[in-house]
Amino acid sequence: MSVRRLAPKELQPASFSFSEATLAFARQQIAKYPEGRQASACIAILWRVQEEHEGWVSEAAIRAVADLLDMAYIRVLEIATFYTMFQLAPVGKKAHVQVCGTTPCMLRGAGDLIEVCKHRIHHDPGHVSADGDFSWEEVECLGACVNAPMVMIWKDTYEDLTKDSLNKVLDGFAAGNPPQPGPQVDRQFAAPEGGPHVLKDTALAGGATKKGND
Ligand code: FES
Repeated sequence: MSVRRLAPKELQPASFSFSEATLAFARQQIAKYPEGRQASACIAILWRVQEEHEGWVSEAAIRAVADLLDMAYIRVLEIATFYTMFQLAPVGKKAHVQVCGTTPCMLRGAGDLIEVCKHRIHHDPGHVSADGDFSWEEVECLGACVNAPMVMIWKDTYEDLTKDSLNKVLDGFAAGNPPQPGPQVDRQFAAPEGGPHVLKDTALAGGATKKGND
């Protein structure tokens, strides 16, 4: 994973202000925690700010969140730079693709997905495509290893991918009509492809149950 730093000054907006809706959301989040523990709302508020501001958090936004929560700037900077869910520089308008590059995904074809991103979006991660619509990066395990290889786009995961199916997913985002998140093969969530492979002998299961009840 690459070093996570704030975007260079020339990409940073001069200022940031909360919308009324975000402020109302922030108050709601803060109210969930005991008096003096408002910092616990930091991640939820940063995420909301990111969603409302073109998919990334600027330095001004990070400082505004710190002021709102009465936190030291460095504390919010630590959070924003630690979690790869927060983008620190402008991303693609239609999709920012986070490709899981940890071992299970790599063994199942994450390299192919990275190739698609390199050819279709930009040779290097962290750069926006020529049309401004897409960007990509490699991240560590996103917790869907059983459906490897996978990517996360915004808040959704697209799983059991191949080169072809990732291209289809990106086609959907390009057309403003993203596919259903989750497995991109005939599979229900993390259940086996093609239905159950074990414990299919109901007679055996019944016998075991009967024996257990005797
Ligand atoms: S290794 Fe890719 S989701 Fe866990």
